[in-house]
Amino acid sequence: MAQNTLSVKDKVVLVTGAFGLIGKEVCRSYLQHQAKVVLAGHNPGQLAAIKAEFEADFNPEHFLVCELDVTNRESIACSMAATLSKFGQLDVLVNNAAIDAKFDKAHKDKIISSRFEDYPIEVVRQSVEVNLIGAVQVAQAACRQMLKQGFGNIINVASSYSLISPNQQLYDFGEEPVTFKPVDYVVSKSFMPNFTRYLATFYAKDNIRCNAIAPHGIFNDHDEKFLENFAKLSPIGRMCDKSEICGPFVFLASDASSYMTGSVLVVDGGWTAW
Ligand SMILES: NC(=O)c1ccc[n+]([C@@H]2O[C@H](COP(=O)([O-])OP(=O)(O)OC[C@H]3O[C@@H](n4cnc5c(N)ncnc54)[C@H](O)[C@@H]3O)[C@@H](O)[C@H]2O)c1
Repeated sequence: MAQNTLSVKDKVVLVTGAFGLIGKEVCRSYLQHQAKVVLAGHNPGQLAAIKAEFEADFNPEHFLVCELDVTNRESIACSMAATLSKFGQLDVLVNNAAIDAKFDKAHKDKIISSRFEDYPIEVVRQSVEVNLIGAVQVAQAACRQMLKQGFGNIINVASSYSLISPNQQLYDFGEEPVTFKPVDYVVSKSFMPNFTRYLATFYAKDNIRCNAIAPHGIFNDHDEKFLENFAKLSPIGRMCDKSEICGPFVFLASDASSYMTGSVLVVDGGWTAW
C-alpha cells in the first residue's frame, strides 16, 4: 500500500500546453515540490526562453523542455521518448493543452464575436481537434507507457464549462459588438468529465488513476469591466489567482489522492454551486 503523503518528490510529470498560463504555473509548483517535470509546449519559438526562465530558478537535471503538438502523433511519440530517455518513466500526465478564447486585455481583440448561429464551424472543428482528439491521443500514448510500467496517473484539465453553460452576462461589457463565450470551447471541453470516468474505470485494475480538475476564471490582467462582471456573478466575488490552482494539481499527482479515480475536482470559487 502506498504511503498516503502529499509528496510528489521524484515523480515524473509531463504537462502539455506547458508554456501557457496554467501550465507554466503548475510546472513551477511541481518543481518546487521536487518533482521531475517535462514542460511540453507547442510554441517552438518559445522553447529557448522557457528553458532559460526555468534554468534561472531550477536545476536543469530536474526538468525537460520540449515541443509537443497534441494533434500530431509523431510529436507526442517524440516527447514521450525524450521523457523516458531523461527520466526513465512517466508517473503523471497532465492533459492541459487547449484552445480557449481569452477575455484578458491581451487577447480580447481576437475574440470572434459571432453569435452561435453564425459561429464559424471550422473554428469548432479546430477546437475539437486540439481539445478533444488531442487530449485523447496524448492519453493513449501515456497509457501505453503506464501499462508497461505497471503504474500511472492522469490529470485531465477540464473547466467549469465542462459542467455548466457559460453565463453570457460575464462577457457582456455593454459595448458593440456584443461578445459571447464561444461554443467551440464549451463543446470541446464538455467531454472531459466523462472521458475521465472512462479512463478511470478502464484502467482501474491496472494501477492507473485518472481524475480531472475543473478550474474557472484564472486572473490574467483582465480589464475592470470584466472583473466587475465576474465579481457580481461569482459566489467568492473574485477571480482565481494562478497560485491558487496549484494545490489541487499537487494533491492529485500525489499519493494523498491514492483512493481517488474518476473524480472531477472543481476549483471555481463556487461558480457552479448556484
Ligand atoms: N485560464 C482559465 O481561466 C481556465 C479556466 C478553466 C479551464 N482552463 C483550462 O486550463 C487549461 C490551460 O489553459 P490556460 O488558461 O493556461 O490557457 P493558455 O492558452 O494560456 O494555455 C494553453 C496552451 O495550450 C497550447 N496549445 C494550443 N494548441 C496546442 C496543440 N495543438 N498542441 C499542444 N499545445 C497546444 C497553447 O500553445 C497554450 O500554451 C486548458 O485546458 C483550459 O481549458 C483554463
